Amino acid sequence: MDNPFFKYAGKKNFLVGDLSTLGGSFQPESLPHRESQIELMANTLSSVIRGTRPSNILLYGKTGSGKTSVATHVTKMLREATDDGVKVYYVNCQIYDSPYSIMVSLVNMLAPNQENEIPPLGWPQDRIYLELVRRINRMGKYVILILDEIDKLIKKNGGDSLYVLLKLLDDSAGSRTSIIGITNDTSFMDGLDARVRSRLNQESVLFPPYNASELRDILVYRLADIVKQGSVEEAAINLCAAIGAQEHGDARKAIDLMRISIEMAIRADNPAVTEDEVVKARGKFEMDVMREAVTTLPLQSKVLLLSAVITQELDNSQMVTGEIYENYKSICNELGFMPLSTRRISDILSELEDFGLLTAKTKSMGRYGRTRWIRVIGDYKSIKSHLLEDDHLSTFSGGGLMRQTRISSASDEKDEWGYMKATDIGDKLSDLANSTLAND
Ligand SMILES: Nc1ncnc2c1ncn2[C@@H]1O[C@H](COP(=O)(O)OP(=O)(O)O)[C@@H](O)[C@H]1O
Ligand SMILES: [Mg+2]
Repeated sequence: MDNPFFKYAGKKNFLVGDLSTLGGSFQPESLPHRESQIELMANTLSSVIRGTRPSNILLYGKTGSGKTSVATHVTKMLREATDDGVKVYYVNCQIYDSPYSIMVSLVNMLAPNQENEIPPLGWPQDRIYLELVRRINRMGKYVILILDEIDKLIKKNGGDSLYVLLKLLDDSAGSRTSIIGITNDTSFMDGLDARVRSRLNQESVLFPPYNASELRDILVYRLADIVKQGSVEEAAINLCAAIGAQEHGDARKAIDLMRISIEMAIRADNPAVTEDEVVKARGKFEMDVMREAVTTLPLQSKVLLLSAVITQELDNSQMVTGEIYENYKSICNELGFMPLSTRRISDILSELEDFGLLTAKTKSMGRYGRTRWIRVIGDYKSIKSHLLEDDHLSTFSGGGLMRQTRISSASDEKDEWGYMKATDIGDKLSDLANSTLAND
């Protein structure tokens, strides 16, 4: 029945369900266009029904390709089919990012009651490990450990961090434990020991990007119980699907855009959701994503990004690492932080690049070696204002910052410019003088 209050509230009555089901944590009943991935996984996991340990499975594909949802969906069906004879534990390695914290969280999930909880930093690793094995054995069930974003674990702790978890598979009684690893970046596999690698992906399941027509079906399916039929124009659905397809076939993006568009239409009291809302939603979405990325950075990354923003503000062209570092040190000085080493700064720059906040391009500078050329992506004024939301940075004034001296690089690369410290400039000038003499 239509909500009778809408006519009093003056609201156009097109919402018939719960819009929050378009939010990230909602698990839909079915997952169209993932039938073959579901079938493959079910096939592998079905061995528990025959009484043998399933192979480990690696799920890989870009973000928003349905990996986490499919893993949750399939293991839920397996639990149903076995009357909870299989225990499934989900760990996001972005949050639990060391073998130690993963084991603590597992031990606590396996705790029959709160009294057995282990304090987060209470026990040494080997004791946690033994306790984990003991609890798994005592339970006597098949255990499936879903390690989502497993690449984060390896990137942070190195390949060895998998040994301890793979050892767990062997040490638990009757080898009843399996791992489902999930990643959107398979490059972490390159650094792994060949044996670890082959154990981790005894089976692998590829999640290809959704195309626009698949995303369209997904949107129509996800909207079915939420809005009155016809209240979201086909053109609006198509546009969300097209944008999601363009962004590496990302269902999350398509669904998020649709949710924001609907919210906008409701707020404006529009009778339907049109392409206009989607276009506006996209702008808002980009801003929100950027704000979230910036405000959740660790403090030192914020200071470095602030330095990049200021450097770009002083001269709106490409910057080199050295120049950002000089300004970074000045900012640290002004705010009373210890500056990090150039090595760490180089790592943080790569992280900022991963977050899509910077682009970096490595270029040769002739005899001065190679240097990274950097630009802040997007609207650096808003990035700056988001950075200054941080209490630690809010007093920043930037009084001591100056444009660095700029000098041409190697003579054979006249169109490429770099910034150098005063001593380098001295070297460079005497160099040029020498070469002029030599040419004479
Ligand atoms: N085939 C599908 N049908 C319906 N919704 C989907 C489908 N694939 C993904 N989604 C939705 O898109 C979002 C992203 O999916 P998710 O499984 O988190 O992707 P990944 O883990 O690959 O990044 C989730 O909100 C999920 O519910
Ligand atoms: Mg995921």
